Amino acid sequence: MSSAALQIEGVGKTFATAGGAVEAVRGIEIEVAQGEFIAILGPSGCGKTTLLRMIGGLIAPSQGDVRMSGQSILSGGNAAEARLGELAFAFQESRLFPWFTIEENIALPLRLRGVSASERIKRSRDLCQLVGLKGFETARPSQLSGGMRQRASLARALSVSPKLLLLDEPFGALDAMTRDQMNIELQRICATTNATVVLITHSIAEAVFLADRVVVLTPRPGRIHAIHKIELPRPRTIDMQETPEFQNHVRAIRTDIAGYPS
Ligand SMILES: Nc1ncnc2c1ncn2[C@@H]1O[C@H](COP(=O)(O)OP(=O)(O)OP(=O)(O)O)[C@@H](O)[C@H]1O
Ligand SMILES: [Mg+2]
Repeated sequence: MSSAALQIEGVGKTFATAGGAVEAVRGIEIEVAQGEFIAILGPSGCGKTTLLRMIGGLIAPSQGDVRMSGQSILSGGNAAEARLGELAFAFQESRLFPWFTIEENIALPLRLRGVSASERIKRSRDLCQLVGLKGFETARPSQLSGGMRQRASLARALSVSPKLLLLDEPFGALDAMTRDQMNIELQRICATTNATVVLITHSIAEAVFLADRVVVLTPRPGRIHAIHKIELPRPRTIDMQETPEFQNHVRAIRTDIAGYPS
């Protein structure tokens, strides 16, 4: 058995729609090591969200398989139970419940797992600290800014101590400055938790800033167009974005995208 945290093996997806079959994703093959950070870039509609949903087991692939720690993501029973505790999603919008406080929102996955109230409070307070929301534990989501709500949503995803974190453009709706800050935050969290991360983004700079490898997908059906290894030292800083090394990566990825098959 491979020691990879995540194996994406020849994964493809075709949707049956009223207008006929829509092939969204084709032949994706990637192995991801524990603690590795992968960013996925690609044009709108190329199949990124579909791929992420297959990685998380939310939808079944039409071809291929996804393995977490060697086990198929589609296997049921105890394996499915175990996987639930090891996997977390965060999305473009924060999806917090308005009638719960921030700490209640963050602890919700733990509550659903039957963790005791005292343990939940302790854990959600630690997470507030981790994502920079200390002092806002008892606030409601409506009292927070968009960036703070995204941080709360990230904290909720982290509440189960996921081995695998799946992020679908979590910072897409944020302004550039808040986004930079979230990227710094996310990098620090990843270093602390050693989670394996798959991040979908539309920003080349964000991908280069965060990732160990950047996967560039083709237009639909999404196939792997190129994989860039980013060997910039960590922790990465905002200033680093001005360096020739950083700029070279950005340029190389831009060139790849310009060379899409027609
Ligand atoms: N449940 C579904 N049924 C039918 N077609 C779908 C379904 N989900 C996605 N698709 C189609 O699959 C293709 C890929 O969609 P997907 O949402 O994965 O793209 P994306 O790369 O995430 O786009 P964006 O960057 O805009 O979020 C699109 O053509 C979309 O219409
Ligand atoms: Mg999408």
